[in-house]
Amino acid sequence: MNPLKHVAIIMDGNGRWGIKYKNSRNAGHKAGLNTVEKIIKETIRNKISYLTLFAFSTENWKRPKKEINYLFNLLENFLSNRISDLHKQNIKLKILGSKKFSPKLNKLLINSEKKTSKNTKLQINLALNYGSKSELIDAFKKIKKSKSIINEKNLSKNLQTKNIPDPDILIRTGNTKRLSNFLLWQLAYSEIFFERKLWPAFNENDYNKIIKDYKNIKRNFGKI
Ligand code: FPP
Repeated sequence: MNPLKHVAIIMDGNGRWGIKYKNSRNAGHKAGLNTVEKIIKETIRNKISYLTLFAFSTENWKRPKKEINYLFNLLENFLSNRISDLHKQNIKLKILGSKKFSPKLNKLLINSEKKTSKNTKLQINLALNYGSKSELIDAFKKIKKSKSIINEKNLSKNLQTKNIPDPDILIRTGNTKRLSNFLLWQLAYSEIFFERKLWPAFNENDYNKIIKDYKNIKRNFGKI
């Protein structure tokens, strides 16, 4: 059975779910947040140490302003209401991506990271305004500046995910098969599961089925 330390998820399909069932994309984002809560619980129950969630990409700024504002309001409310409880549950929050949001949200994100920084049960990496290509370019720039040699170890050390093991599993919901500029380096050997269901419809059973399937895969890492 494969050990499982880190699950990464591209939470796709909120908009389509919202339109289909509530005639509003934003209603899909709200429902998507409920799925986030369910999956956090199930990640803890499965004793997984890292959960990385792709919540907003550098490309998502191209969406209508109304939708962007709704998403960030949702996040603000979530953190304001839930961070103390996450902290009590010994959960650490880390933000991947650059914090270029409203001063209020930036502060909330920084404070949430600080408050939970010593926690050890589960680390949630929330990718917000994150893009893998710019993360890689920044890492190369840092290596060049420090006049170090370019090798795998130095590159990994200069990514925002330094000290985080690479994901064992990547799940993408929403019946789309692409990586969308997410963790391109870190996913080199991850087992990838493309799920037909839209993110708000994804549930604990779907998650546990993926975990079970992953545990039985023969992982070779290039060997035979
Ligand atoms: C992709 O679905 C989802 C997003 C861009 C946002 C993810 C946000 C959540 C799951 C809820 C909020 C989470 C937090 C942490 C506040 P899409 O809108 O691209 O769906 P579509 O492909 O159907 O249009």
